Amino acid sequence: MRVTIIGAGRVGLTTAVALNYLGHRVSCVDSDGGLVESLLNGEFPFHEPVLPELWDANSIGVASRLSPASASADILFATVSTPTLPNGHADTSAVRSVAEQVAETVPDQADVIVAVKSTVPPGTTDALQQMIDQVLQRRNCTARVATASNPEFLREGSSLADMLYPDRIVLGTPDRRSLLSLLNLYRPIIQQQFLPPEGAPRPPGYSCTPVLATRPRNAELIKYAANAFLVTKLSFINELAGLAEQLGADITRVAKGIGLDHRIGPHYLDAGVGWGGPCLAKDVRALVGLAADNGRDMPLLSAALSVNSRQRQHIVRRLEQALGPLQGTTIGILGLAFKANTDDLTDSPALAVASLLLQSGAHVRCYDPVAEPRARREHPHLPLEYHDTVGEMSRGCDALVLMTGWPEFKHLPWPELARAMKGKTVVDARNFLDRQTIEQAGFTYLGIGR
Ligand SMILES: NC(=O)c1ccc[n+]([C@@H]2O[C@H](COP(=O)([O-])OP(=O)(O)OC[C@H]3O[C@@H](n4cnc5c(N)ncnc54)[C@H](O)[C@@H]3O)[C@@H](O)[C@H]2O)c1
Repeated sequence: MRVTIIGAGRVGLTTAVALNYLGHRVSCVDSDGGLVESLLNGEFPFHEPVLPELWDANSIGVASRLSPASASADILFATVSTPTLPNGHADTSAVRSVAEQVAETVPDQADVIVAVKSTVPPGTTDALQQMIDQVLQRRNCTARVATASNPEFLREGSSLADMLYPDRIVLGTPDRRSLLSLLNLYRPIIQQQFLPPEGAPRPPGYSCTPVLATRPRNAELIKYAANAFLVTKLSFINELAGLAEQLGADITRVAKGIGLDHRIGPHYLDAGVGWGGPCLAKDVRALVGLAADNGRDMPLLSAALSVNSRQRQHIVRRLEQALGPLQGTTIGILGLAFKANTDDLTDSPALAVASLLLQSGAHVRCYDPVAEPRARREHPHLPLEYHDTVGEMSRGCDALVLMTGWPEFKHLPWPELARAMKGKTVVDARNFLDRQTIEQAGFTYLGIGR
């Protein structure tokens, strides 16, 4: 099928690579001219496993404007950003602009679907349909444009695998023809009729993808509800971690013990510095804002947000417990990305903790194997001292704080680092390291909730 993806960011490019790999004819449109130029030159704009190797600049078209040809593809995906407005609500202006571009550009007699993958408040896809119909009517255009909601659940760091082997595909449309077209597009994934690409093997036992067909506003709310549930689970375990720490219990064992209960499940029960990234806080705030518009409060989600910001301060308190006042100390931060396998720094807990440490008067050094160039570029005013190796960064440090679970941090030469450092404290803000190894190297190990 012919597919046009509008918004060539993390979701758009993953969708493009996956659908191109599955044999569809894909082209991308993005309003950022610099990004388009890089892609045309074969440069991939962000760090993500497997995607750059599968990005095929020869077969995936890229343009900065929608043309009548790209607007008449079988399916057009809206994968543009929906950032947070100052009042916490989702800014859907880019999605509306996509709908307008399509309605203004689509040629007579085309028959297209605009599938919204961007995370948007319930009711948006229906509103887009009305907008498009009005423009088509004004233009006396005979094209048929049907909107659908197709929320995306991929995780950065494993985005291609999440798209090829998803837990579910949600299709929100009242229109049977659109539903059949979308099912046709996703058939290779739903029935797993493809040879897995190198670097994204099929998970053992994965044989087909459940599909949930529903109304657009249900699909839109499913996306928000999923993220809201995940943050609630994470904030729950983080809140409990604080108590475990005081009681002398180990939250990792407690999490294991409750996660074995099928009703609870083992995922998203890792206590740590709290959640970050481009979506979770943005989407939960948008949901709380949406509820307020409808005269409802969301005390559970508001609490999840405040537990999360408290958790970042907890890392600083952990350091103060070990070192006393932080004024004049030198702290080394291991990892800046909001999680491993990405260079995304949006709402990164590491940067939040670094800012708190700087406010306390500490000198902050940092090392990240991948995200450093982006940190320098996106946060030029943050007075962080960047280092090329952990060894160089650690020299003379009072403490190290592990903030991102990069696999290489598991295998650091801890005895060597202990000898080079001034202090002997390691705060493991993700309960990621092997406590025994750290302690055997002569460090005091401080985890979260243990
Ligand atoms: N990143 C994730 O992990 C993730 C996961 C699931 C869902 N989502 C949702 O998907 C959407 C996109 O997220 P992302 O992370 O890919 O964002 P992104 O910022 O990486 O990419 C968005 C792209 O859209 C382009 N764009 C903005 N307005 C445009 C317009 N009017 N016309 C053409 N291009 C335009 C931008 O230049 C940018 O390249 C958001 O709603 C997000 O909440 C993101």
